[in-house]
Amino acid sequence: MGNILITGCPHSGDDAGMLRQIIAGACVESSHLLHVLHILQQKFLHVSETAIREVATMLALPYSQVEAVVEFYSFFHKTPRGKYDILFSNCICCGYLADGTDLMAMFGRRLGIVAGRTREDGLVSMDQTSCIGMCDHGAALLVNGMPVTGLDGSLLERIAILIEDRVPLEDWPSEWFQIEDSIRMSGMLLDHEMPRGDSLRTMLALGAEASLNEIIQSGLRGRGGAGFSTGMKWKSCRAAQGAAHYVICNADEGEPGTFKDRLLLHRYAHSLFEGMTVCAYLIGANLGYLYLRGEYRYLLPHLQSVLLLRRETGLLGTNICNQPGFSFDVQIVVGAGAYICGEESALIESLEGKRGIPRVRPPFPVSHGYLGQPTVVNNVETFVAAACVVQKGSAWFRAMGDEVSKGSKILSISGDCASPGIYEYPFGVSIRQMLEDCGAADTYAVQVGGPSGVLIGSPEFDRRLGYDDLPTGGAVMVFDKSRDLMSVLVNFSRFFSHESCGFCTPCRVGTVLLRDRLDKIFSGRGAQTDLEEILHTARLMKQHSHCGLGQTAANPVLDGLQRFPQVLGKFLLNRDFEPDLDLEKALAEGRRIRKGNDTIACADRGGQ
Ligand SMILES: Cc1cc2nc3c(=O)[nH]c(=O)nc-3n(C[C@H](O)[C@H](O)[C@H](O)COP(=O)(O)O)c2cc1C
Ligand code: SF4
Repeated sequence: MGNILITGCPHSGDDAGMLRQIIAGACVESSHLLHVLHILQQKFLHVSETAIREVATMLALPYSQVEAVVEFYSFFHKTPRGKYDILFSNCICCGYLADGTDLMAMFGRRLGIVAGRTREDGLVSMDQTSCIGMCDHGAALLVNGMPVTGLDGSLLERIAILIEDRVPLEDWPSEWFQIEDSIRMSGMLLDHEMPRGDSLRTMLALGAEASLNEIIQSGLRGRGGAGFSTGMKWKSCRAAQGAAHYVICNADEGEPGTFKDRLLLHRYAHSLFEGMTVCAYLIGANLGYLYLRGEYRYLLPHLQSVLLLRRETGLLGTNICNQPGFSFDVQIVVGAGAYICGEESALIESLEGKRGIPRVRPPFPVSHGYLGQPTVVNNVETFVAAACVVQKGSAWFRAMGDEVSKGSKILSISGDCASPGIYEYPFGVSIRQMLEDCGAADTYAVQVGGPSGVLIGSPEFDRRLGYDDLPTGGAVMVFDKSRDLMSVLVNFSRFFSHESCGFCTPCRVGTVLLRDRLDKIFSGRGAQTDLEEILHTARLMKQHSHCGLGQTAANPVLDGLQRFPQVLGKFLLNRDFEPDLDLEKALAEGRRIRKGNDTIACADRGGQ
């Protein structure tokens, strides 16, 4: 399990000499800012002011930049976390409420701790975090970065005992940390067994021009969601002028309900790196990065071992496949809990050691990407597919799918179904077929593409997976008739308000307004005016937000209003207006403190 299990030492994190030593040690592996901060966070359970100063000095970065990065990413903290740092997923599918019981509250009561706090003895801290990509395994948490899934009362009790007994994570039952790959249906990509290096050898035999042409002809489009032609992206980058070209694999996979890249990183890492290496050759890059979401940090030792093997077997490094001048290597940078870093320009900012704030586009990464140089950013699945296309040929790929959407799509199906997991389908498959295959019954609604995607109901279950109908980065969340869809909408709105990077006002304010309106409606205090406010806010967000997060954050509630008006409607009072302030709730705390009622409060005031 590598270095992830290190638990904090008792030092305050303010001893400058020791800090310098640790930072120097971290830099032996990588001097990337995120890497150094991860090491400090693990070691001291926080990143102190002194640590920030030392990092800034040693990495020759402005103090303000290092401090801003520590404050931006949710996995870094300026005050100490517990020796056991517990983060419950709050996703609708793998979250602490997933089975109807509030598991986080239960755990908190058991250990005498509340969410967002570190216990006074410093042993344990607990909080919630956005989806950790374990939706095929039930309720899940991270303990010191390691995922534990299938949570229920008895497993949490066993975890609590180990924590109170101060048992090191290394000695916890190892099966708790084993994440099954749950492939339920495989197709042209997952079934394809590719001898290592075969794509590279085929590409070298074909030549760069012809290989690039194969990618273009295949019709392969980006699998991260936006669906841009992969071949055209590579071609533009190849043609762009720059001192260096870069390849970046986007393994941030933060969209709730998406976990197919987790499988690919685990089982198909060779194909992924092969795809990146093909890309490097075709665009003229010598260096690539895999940006791995912090929640998948547990995969790091495995990925590093695959890279090492590829270097040892001449598939990475210099003169790859004995081709003089063909040099390429991959470095892995681990993110730190920020969904926005999946947006490609925010990801590049993060790779450059900054906060993940999306850039103004154009210019696009293909001409002005990492360090201002021509850069290809592709999703994990896109690189895997590209490697297969080069090896098998474009005709093989085009033979699957439909006119607009070629090949297959790997889906993460979760929610109310008997067999959640990974399903690979040719494009064109209907939602109805997927529901049948995953054992869904009494399905009320399906969220395609995660919270930023589309929410549909049963009249639309014959719609099809594809760029001209229902595109998806990979998430399909199933909700049956026992589910209160309003709680789903509330969950999604909280997700977006939490994950907004705060850079632009329409999104920063809009996501909070949407969340608060939905909370208000959910609590039974909603009125018709709230729906009008929601529509107005959603319009502003769509039109004026700086990036895709803000532009799509209102999708679930808009779909809810359009397709499931009864879901919101049943919470509305027959009033035209209901104030935002819940007066009774606001007074309750004051009454509690005064141990009295409003008469006493008035009498107090009168006596002044
Ligand atoms: C808020 C936001 C989050 C995103 N998250 C991811 C992600 O986790 N993985 C991903 O591949 N693309 C993500 N994207 C899309 C990327 O910006 C980009 O389009 C993609 O990495 C390009 O790769 P592709 O062409 O192979 O799809 C996200 C976009 C937005 C707006
Ligand atoms: S839309 Fe949201 S996430 Fe995107 S830049 Fe604006 S505030 Fe940040």
